[in-house]
Amino acid sequence: MQYQTPNLNTEGSRTDNSSIRILAVDDEDHMIRVFRSVLESVDYQVETASSGRSAIDKLRQDIYDLVITDLTLTDVDGIQLLQEAKRLHPDISVIIVTGYGTIASAVDAMKMGADDYITKPFERDQLLISVEGTLEKYRMRRELRYLRGYLEEQYGLHNMVGRSKTMNRLFATARKVANSEATILIQGESGTGKELLAKAIHFNSARRNQPLVTIDCGSMPLELLQSELFGHIKGSFTGALRNRRGLFEEARGGTIFLDEVGEIYEPLQLSLLRVLQEREIRPIGSDSTVKIDVRIISASNKNLKESVEKGRFRRDLYYRLAVITLEIPPLRERREDIPELIQFFLEKFNKRNNSSISRISPEAMSLLLSFQWDGNVRELENVIERAMVLADSDTITPNLLPEEILGGKPDEIDNDRRGIVVTDENLTLKEISSQASAATEREAILRALEKSAGNKKKAAELLGISRGSLYNKMKALRMR
Ligand SMILES: Nc1ncnc2c1ncn2[C@@H]1O[C@H](COP(=O)(O)OP(=O)(O)OP(=O)(O)O)[C@@H](O)[C@H]1O
Ligand SMILES: [Mg+2]
Repeated sequence: MQYQTPNLNTEGSRTDNSSIRILAVDDEDHMIRVFRSVLESVDYQVETASSGRSAIDKLRQDIYDLVITDLTLTDVDGIQLLQEAKRLHPDISVIIVTGYGTIASAVDAMKMGADDYITKPFERDQLLISVEGTLEKYRMRRELRYLRGYLEEQYGLHNMVGRSKTMNRLFATARKVANSEATILIQGESGTGKELLAKAIHFNSARRNQPLVTIDCGSMPLELLQSELFGHIKGSFTGALRNRRGLFEEARGGTIFLDEVGEIYEPLQLSLLRVLQEREIRPIGSDSTVKIDVRIISASNKNLKESVEKGRFRRDLYYRLAVITLEIPPLRERREDIPELIQFFLEKFNKRNNSSISRISPEAMSLLLSFQWDGNVRELENVIERAMVLADSDTITPNLLPEEILGGKPDEIDNDRRGIVVTDENLTLKEISSQASAATEREAILRALEKSAGNKKKAAELLGISRGSLYNKMKALRMR
């Protein structure tokens, strides 16, 4: 899934000093004049204060990017002012100005969080260089914070769409285990969102500010994969021209995502087992081991337990990987998620393409709700993207959908159970999705009745509701 990169546009603001507010504090008038004339000569907005107290007042009332203050003021000392400024505005930058011979206190000020210091007397350029450098750091701090927030937003579990009971239960478990160190195995058919879930878990864990390293275990030859994972030392094989760190080391402090772990070569299964047991790795050709600090999440689109039974996957490795197993159900088993996913993808591609296709015709919705979706969410996403490219109005209509959805065989649900056939053109997405959830309930009830050979008491038990609720539901759904 590609995301729009944020437009930070730092270049633009770098050349434009006039939006930057600086508070210069000194109890000597001529110093105040120097600050003002130097800083205003390159267009900074300058405010001044001739005492620590008036500086603090100004900081309470206004927003500044930078404070330049003398270390020795008569009322409040520069360090106190520094602390107060950072308390009021955690992102603010502070430059301390010290007199000759007080370098030691300047160093103290740096330890207390000042961003730079200059000593008196100073040249015009010295002041400007210090100010520029400090503001650059300020910008980077803000960008970092922005990017972190951005990533969290992108991969927060709340951005994984799904309102079905199974998905909600899955999200709750994922949230719970995210913060533990437990090794997690994610299983699900292709396109169900395994990688997205792995990312969401990493960004909801205490390791979120450390790397998330992904490797597809089925995508490369044995030797290459081995060296990718564990690293090698120079000369350990032809082509090993220099020492190379493996991904387990690259992911230090963070998470490694072993995708398609079911595909991993037999010899590597044993190496991986050792990593999980010993929490250390041995780079190829090395005779010493390296401790690793990595959280391991793996994913597989086949049922690993079955692979174990068939003797294709080590049982001991399976148990180590599957401390916690998260199973993402195929889309066809949670059709009530479809309307919300469609809405999510419409918004996503509208944002990316600067378009405003926000409606879907009832016929198109009906077709999408009843399709088989062997490719799961990825397939749905592709279908929506394609339809949006082809659309020449604000509405997705059936003619924009691929042939197999239009004319293809409906899935195993037979026609009278297809449930939702939306007929009213004016339904909102919310109404459509409540219809969809009614259709799913209807289907579940029919299945339960079938299993219980029409016995309502048994059917109610199967559904986990009372017989009375079953009657009410059936009545509400007009099922007789
Ligand atoms: N619940 C969801 N909400 C929003 N987007 C989703 C959801 N599930 C999957 N997607 C999107 O569907 C696409 C496929 O997801 P992902 O790559 O995580 O699947 P996968 O299970 O790893 O597939 P594969 O087994 O083929 O590698 C991605 O673009 C992903 O962002
Ligand atoms: Mg994947």
